[in-house]
Amino acid sequence: MDTQIEDRARIAVVIGGASGIGAAIAVALGDDGCIVVVADLATTPAVDITDEASVEALLAGVLAEHGRVDVVVNSAGVSTLGLLTELDAAEFRRVIDVNLTGAFLVLKHAGRVVADGGAVISLTSLNARQPGTGMGAYCAAKAGLAMLTEVAALELGARGVRVNAISPGLVITPLTAPAMDIAGIEDDYLENTPLGRAGLPEEVAEAAVYLAKARWLTGEVLDLNGGAHLRRYPDIHGHVMRAFG
Ligand SMILES: NC(=O)c1ccc[n+]([C@@H]2O[C@H](COP(=O)([O-])OP(=O)(O)OC[C@H]3O[C@@H](n4cnc5c(N)ncnc54)[C@H](O)[C@@H]3O)[C@@H](O)[C@H]2O)c1
Repeated sequence: MDTQIEDRARIAVVIGGASGIGAAIAVALGDDGCIVVVADLATTPAVDITDEASVEALLAGVLAEHGRVDVVVNSAGVSTLGLLTELDAAEFRRVIDVNLTGAFLVLKHAGRVVADGGAVISLTSLNARQPGTGMGAYCAAKAGLAMLTEVAALELGARGVRVNAISPGLVITPLTAPAMDIAGIEDDYLENTPLGRAGLPEEVAEAAVYLAKARWLTGEVLDLNGGAHLRRYPDIHGHVMRAFG
């Protein structure tokens, strides 16, 4: 089984692969010899991970075209900011829907189609373990996804399918770039990061390439954040309030 995987191009699907970290992962897996299918709200056809039929059709289509699926990466995610006492329930549900329920739908259908010995990789966040004021919906979703990763690893291990997650700290992408213009936010991140800098999408992609191949690693939620998990999460909400009242 493992020998076969080494002898031919692996088929990889990167969901949320049109931007940021997912786009870098798609490039890196391609450079590592995979045939890569990119799926996103922003691709044609659009794939929406909150829509089960959309996820199922994507993976069935790749299976039909390429005969197998070896690696599925889910990098789709959205964020929001709002104190729990003020956050609209609809906004809470939107963030949970993409980051947790959508991630579950990817795990569910990837778990059905990924070949024995294959890999499934999700993107959680530093916020899976560090709470941030005003970030309840995002933190709850990512913490839930970290636990789902472990459960999926238990359930798919018998087929040799490895299920892991990468938990990045600050990486400048279209998701985070707008916040960097708000005074204090980037400095607060960097002061709380022992390595003293944000990560690059390509550095997250290096970890994805490794997780796609690591044969004896499953159920891992990999802290990839320059050591930021050793300190405290920045006060994003405080900086926003000081900037905008
Ligand atoms: N950038 C960071 O600092 C950071 C830190 C920790 C975790 N993360 C996580 O990493 C992942 C990638 O983040 P990014 O910074 O590259 O963001 P990004 O906004 O650059 O890219 C996210 C992609 O997901 C897609 N997407 C959103 N909702 C979708 C849906 N319902 N179905 C399909 N695709 C959808 C978007 O169209 C976009 O292309 C996210 O899960 C994010 O929560 C990012």
